[in-house]
Order: sequence, then C-alpha cells, then structure tokens
Amino acid sequence: MSDLDRLLDQARREVAESADLAALEETRVRWLGRKGALTEQLKALGALAPSERPAAGQRINAAKDALQAALEARRAELERAEDERRLASGRLDVTLPGRGEERGGLHPVTLTRLRIESLFRRAGFDIAAGPEVEDDFHNFEALNIPPNHPARAMHDTFYFADGRLLRTHTSPVQIRALLARGAPLSVIAPGRVYRCDSDITHSPMFHQLEGLVVGEQVSFANLKAILHGFVEAFFERPLGMRLRPSYFPFTEPSAEVDMSCVFCLGKGCRVCKHTGWLEIAGCGMVHPNVLTASGVDAERFTGYAFGAGIDRLAMLRYGVNDLRLFFESDLRFLEQFATF
Ligand code: DAH
Repeated sequence: MSDLDRLLDQARREVAESADLAALEETRVRWLGRKGALTEQLKALGALAPSERPAAGQRINAAKDALQAALEARRAELERAEDERRLASGRLDVTLPGRGEERGGLHPVTLTRLRIESLFRRAGFDIAAGPEVEDDFHNFEALNIPPNHPARAMHDTFYFADGRLLRTHTSPVQIRALLARGAPLSVIAPGRVYRCDSDITHSPMFHQLEGLVVGEQVSFANLKAILHGFVEAFFERPLGMRLRPSYFPFTEPSAEVDMSCVFCLGKGCRVCKHTGWLEIAGCGMVHPNVLTASGVDAERFTGYAFGAGIDRLAMLRYGVNDLRLFFESDLRFLEQFATF
C-alpha cells in the first residue's frame, strides 16, 4: 500500500498529459476501468488481513475519488479548449472589405423596347398587349387573311394540336385593341412573335412593334410623319426616309419603310448593301375589312398601321451584326449594355 501515493501521482500526470478527449478516456480506462490499475488495488484487498482491510479500503477509495476529480477537471478544460478552437476558426473579421456585388443590367432588346415605348408615349400612344398563344381569327382571319390566302405561306406558323398557334406577328393586337376599346385609338404593341425559321438573320422567336392609329381624319401623311419622327428620335440624328409601294392583306395601300443607313448616312456601305437605305418597317392604311372585323365603322373611321422588328432596331442602334447574339445569353456580350 506504500505504492498508492506513487500510483496516484503517476495517474494524475497522465491525466494532465492527455492531449484530447479521446486520450483522456483511454487514461480513465487504464486507471479506473475494469482492469484498471486502481481497480486492481481494490481487488487486492482480499489478500490483506481482515483487520487491515477497512483502512486500506478507505485510502484506495480516497485515491479513486481524487483521480475521478482530476479526470473531470481535465475533461472540462479540454472541452473549453475545443469550444474556443471552434469559435476561433469561425470568427468573422468585420473589418475585411466586402466582396463587391455586381450590378445587373437590362437586355439590349428590353432597353430598345423601353426606349420605343417612351418615345411613342410622348407622341400620345398607349401601350397595348395581347397573348402570344393566339387563335386563327385574331392572327389571320380578322386581318383579312382568310384560309388558303397565299400570305399564310409567308408566316411559318407553329400550330398547337387544338388549332391555336403562336402568333406570327403583333398585328393581332390591332384586332384585340379595337374590339376592347373601339375607335378612336392610338396604340403601339411591342411583343414576342414566333416563326418556324432559324438562320443568321432569323430566330424562331423575335420581337415586333405594332402601331395602330384609328380616327376620323387619319391620313397616310400622318403615318409618314409619325414614322419619320420616331426614326429620327430613336437614332438621335436627322435621317432620310422613303416609302416604297408594297402589299399586306391588312392594309390598303401598303408600303415598305426605308430610312437612310445609320452607318454611312446614305453613302452606301456593307450594312445597307451599298444602297444607302435600310428597310425598317411595313405599313399602310388599315383595310376596311379589318376595321369591320374589329367592330369599327369603316365608313366613318380610317386608320394607319405599321409593323417593325425590335431586334433589328436594336441591332442598328447598337451596331450589332448578328441577331443570334441577342438570344445566346453570353454575359460578355450582355454586360456591355448594362445601364446604371
Ligand atoms: N405584320 C407584318 C409582318 O409581320 C408587319 C406589318 C406590316 C404590320 C404592315 C403592319 C403593317 O401593321 O401595316 O410581317
């Protein structure tokens, strides 16, 4: 039993040297486990004379309690250290500079649409909208394009099984606006349109701008003035404009609108194919059949309409030479249009 103090000393040293909770548990088992060194001491009591057992038993139990207390103290110490290490590794340095957030921007086609809307609003137009999934009546029939009309062949239409279709132009909004609001009226209708067509200059989805003015004194001269005013305001420079006779089922007479080339100002370059002119819209006086189909008195009212490609206007304004760039979502392209 003279060894007991030495054993306790050694056990305490090992407890103090246990570097983490797992090592501490090993130390505990080594000393107080079923085959631990102190446990063995208790087992040895039986070999002592009965008179010596109580005193010896007390001393061994006191040593056990002392070691238990040392183990508990070390465990608390190690747990605290562990907590602190965890806190330190997750510490936030609030004085570090921020990572910086990049500002988003609008798509160039959206910027163009907003610019067009703002210019026409200033000229007294309202903005109208219609569904992209249309029916035959609004997309064709009411626009004076009956079944088997050859103009239908020019619209490579996406049809649904139930006979509805993806609108091939924004012209059906003319019908919807007139049916809903009646005459007189001045609206533009920008929006997505769809045609089964895809190459360098055609995308199956693209954007059009429809214009419609119906009133009692609306003339072709009004149409030309509005379009010319728009083109010069949109491109922010004086530009020539000319109308060439054309044909659309929903207008009579009809014309194609050319403006002088924004790149060479009419001298002739690659963009205008050396003609000095760029075709930017179709237009005309609303056909009486269209007014009638829309519930408007064609004897009393006249109107003009026009249709232009928004993507094309965006390409001309920003000098973009490939339509596909607008639909590829390449940030290196799109970021150049971010506005602040
Ligand atoms: N809807 C025609 C198209 O998609 C464009 C157009 C031409 C619209 C003449 C008009 C117009 O309103 O008067 O090709």
